[in-house]
Amino acid sequence: MTIHICKTYQDMSRRAADFMAAQITLKPDSVLGLATGSTPLGLYAELVKRCAGKQISFRSIRTVNLDEYCGLTPDDEQSYSYFMHRNLFDRVDIPKENVHLPDGSNPDAAAETARYDRLIESLGGIDLQLLGIGHDGHIGFNEPSDAFSVGTVKIRLTDSTVEANSRFFSSPEAVPEYAYSMGCRTILNAGRILLLANGSGKAGILEKALFGAVTPEVPASVLQLVSDKVTVVVDREAGEEILRKHPGAVTVE
Ligand code: F6R
Repeated sequence: MTIHICKTYQDMSRRAADFMAAQITLKPDSVLGLATGSTPLGLYAELVKRCAGKQISFRSIRTVNLDEYCGLTPDDEQSYSYFMHRNLFDRVDIPKENVHLPDGSNPDAAAETARYDRLIESLGGIDLQLLGIGHDGHIGFNEPSDAFSVGTVKIRLTDSTVEANSRFFSSPEAVPEYAYSMGCRTILNAGRILLLANGSGKAGILEKALFGAVTPEVPASVLQLVSDKVTVVVDREAGEEILRKHPGAVTVE
């Protein structure tokens, strides 16, 4: 596992964009696993800029997103589908048929989770999976639990996640209770994994996930099983606990 601690959020976003741009250039028809949330916004803005400058093209790229809220249609402004279109897909040259997310409006969880797993398999799996990390250690919407998920699952969001995500809604009560999420095994099967984190609020959980026990109580700790294909890029604030406890394990920029 390589861990880069960047000076600022902008530096983190540029370094992450370099990583993704390399993947896109070397394999123009890559399957990219993508994430929502505030963490990747700077990365997406950077990719949009590089696409506009013709440094990269998404013409043959295929994407699969990690998750989607249950009960929201893709055109709902709170949906992850809407988020992805507004922040990335509508601003780069990706064909719309190449982008995929779980369908939150499908009430049949068994059918939807099976469909999404089949879809990822039919694309040949994920070349590069982008991840953020939740305050409770979740990846995708895989919340702390007593077992790691395998394929796509319907998950009940924890109070901590509802609280954290309520900043995008009118109130915590408006946050959907359930979400569809890609499973941990699917994430681990990706060719490479890029984990981003910023802000001091993530410092403790990041250190615990990367250096603590591998346990479904801290879902991101599962990344330790495939540490050779994981690259972690964080800003100074998110990296402060790792730097304090494991100074030899990181590259500080
Ligand atoms: C979103 C996702 C989540 C977020 C995590 C961090 O698609 O998969 O695991 O990455 O909740 O969210 P932010 O970036 O908003 O702190």
